[in-house]
Amino acid sequence: MRKKIVAGNWKMNCDISETYELLDALSEYELAEDVQVMVAPPFTSLQAANQALIDTDILVVAQNMHQAESGAYTGEISAAMLKSAGVDTVIIGHSERRAYFGESNGILAEKVNAALKANMQIIFCFGEELDDRQRGEHFDRVSSQLSQGLFHLEESAWENIILAYEPVWAIGTGETASPEQVQEMHKFIRRTIGERYTAKIADSISILYGGSVKPENAGEIFGKPDVDGGLIGGASLKAESFAAIINAFS
Ligand code: 13P
Repeated sequence: MRKKIVAGNWKMNCDISETYELLDALSEYELAEDVQVMVAPPFTSLQAANQALIDTDILVVAQNMHQAESGAYTGEISAAMLKSAGVDTVIIGHSERRAYFGESNGILAEKVNAALKANMQIIFCFGEELDDRQRGEHFDRVSSQLSQGLFHLEESAWENIILAYEPVWAIGTGETASPEQVQEMHKFIRRTIGERYTAKIADSISILYGGSVKPENAGEIFGKPDVDGGLIGGASLKAESFAAIINAFS
């Protein structure tokens, strides 16, 4: 059985006191027990989030890490540092990292290797831009992001990978991919993994959708057979909408 996952990517939002407030507000809601809930605050709030969530099953996730183990990389954070802050899961490859911080598929493959070496779980993000879709090249784009970022891995590594398909044109724009477009792409992703690896890996990998997921559209998207949950930006910053999305799985 594939895991159902809803993860909130807070991006560059929530200082330490706002982190406590948001998680305190979230604790007022009853959350579906069969959904693995995750929150990804900024680095400075990781420890506060871990402390606030100590008695819950909610996982605290980092939004990024550097590929080197240590050294002269001013402003960067290593896998070991995340682990020492009690964080075992990291988002790699978010489109904002790719677009604003020049993270190429090659760098992302190195980050994936570094995270796995440190025994971390990875939420690997990818997705096409609007002009890829307009040219009808969205499947090619996704397939090359997957193959360049992940297809060097051995089969055993896939236990620690969660995928997040996030079409760039749907992130923070209010424009969601239709449930049919999401299902079509998730099915393609699963098939691509099955062709490169095994049907068992393809069937067991959780594939999340991200891009303007809201309480109003979450149920229909999560109801599609190849969708195992969501990576939520803006709507994860309010406890009420995040809880409603978590509880949108039928
Ligand atoms: P929005 O939900 O704000 O569109 O952001 C999606 C996202 O980028 C999650 O990683």
